Amino acid sequence: ETPQPQPTAAPAPAPSPMPPLFDWQFAADPYPAYAWLREHAPVRKTELPSGVEAWLVTRYADARQALADPRLSKNPHHHSEQGAHGKGKVGIPGERGANLMTHLLNIDPPDHTRLRRLVSKAFTPRRVAAFEPRVRELADGLIDAFAARGEADLIHEFAFPLPIYAICDMLGVPHEDQEDFRAWAGMMIHQPGSPRGGVGRAVKRMRRYLAELIHRKRAELAAGGQADDLISGLIRASDHGEHLTENEAAAMAFILLFAGFETTVNLIGNGTYALLRHPAQRAVLQRAVAEGDTALLEAAVEELLRYDGPVELATWRFATRPLTIGGQAVAEGEPVLVVLAAADRDPAKFDAPDTLDLTRRDNQHLGYGHGIHYCLGAPLARLEGRTALTALLGRLPDLRLAAEPADLRWRGGLIMRGLRTLPVEFTPVNG
Ligand code: HEM
Repeated sequence: ETPQPQPTAAPAPAPSPMPPLFDWQFAADPYPAYAWLREHAPVRKTELPSGVEAWLVTRYADARQALADPRLSKNPHHHSEQGAHGKGKVGIPGERGANLMTHLLNIDPPDHTRLRRLVSKAFTPRRVAAFEPRVRELADGLIDAFAARGEADLIHEFAFPLPIYAICDMLGVPHEDQEDFRAWAGMMIHQPGSPRGGVGRAVKRMRRYLAELIHRKRAELAAGGQADDLISGLIRASDHGEHLTENEAAAMAFILLFAGFETTVNLIGNGTYALLRHPAQRAVLQRAVAEGDTALLEAAVEELLRYDGPVELATWRFATRPLTIGGQAVAEGEPVLVVLAAADRDPAKFDAPDTLDLTRRDNQHLGYGHGIHYCLGAPLARLEGRTALTALLGRLPDLRLAAEPADLRWRGGLIMRGLRTLPVEFTPVNG
């Protein structure tokens, strides 16, 4: 009889080291690092690439709670500068008075409440729904331009221009000026072919342009004009006799452009990429497009947002007093970043979180944030996502990836994450 090896006590597994955060490859697949953080250090003080330290919050329950916590302010100086009337100052150092940064994402109640109520009177679900045929027309026009070629870069030729033209149309930017916006937007996200170092310049030009446009529209309305674009709606909006000031209207138009642009580029880019890499799920969606199954299309867009959403981290928040998040003490004044992309893959909230399942039910993802800063543009984003996918899969049914996934490059700022290019091929379509 051969002697059996004696069982020995297995050594405790060494804790796995944390995968690197924010290195050059990070944007291609941040999810393993987020899984590690969720498990080992769900609220962790971390040095960001800029050298600033911030608390990263990665579990779903903590993330949702932090997003709705009134003790987390948008104002980095809140604790030291409570004004006589309790009004928080705006959160960009060095940018005071009339500027585009006095927008919703940088302010706290009561200013936030007032501005959000006013914009909600102009940016209504009805206005968004009425816009659907125009978005489809824009999507079709962009596809027409490359359909006969049998190949395209879907970021440059589709995902990037669609949201810019859509929001310009909605705001009431005349068609002849929209190419300028396309160029400025390209500078803002360093689109290939855009001049380098142009972000500051692009913002400056956009600021001047928006101020002039608002001025002109105000004059048109005063002269009895009936224009129904969103900027005219913002000028007209009133609440208990209150109106937006000229600067507030400009800052609002700017945040609508800015918040609604790169996010939607990434929704279409990341979403299409995920579909092309999951053939069975893509087939489910292709069938839904053919059958006009709107419910499935809507569920699919939500799942694509959860699975690989455009907004990786919610925008900055700062503790106005000492608090605990997920049992971790956070000191007054410290910055807190909620990692939406990590929360949306939390196994404590989602079954099989790393699986793309377009039929997932009750999908309470945090891709649009939560609480008072919940995405104002969510109805428009959903419309654009649904319409873009319907147009692409409907018109180019054999759409396929024309690059190795490992060769694709990702654009990872701190807040947003998306593909720089998405080369595809398909059977050419004429007419
Ligand atoms: C806020 C995501 C599209 C306008 C937010 C926030 C998120 C988000 C996560 C909250 C940020 C935070 O709490 O720090 C997205 C995603 C989009 C999208 C994933 C596309 C798929 C749009 C569009 C518009 C828009 C199309 C407008 C045209 C805004 C505005 C805010 C906001 C104005 C600030 C709201 C406030 O502070 O009250 N968005 N967004 N977004 N979004 Fe979106």
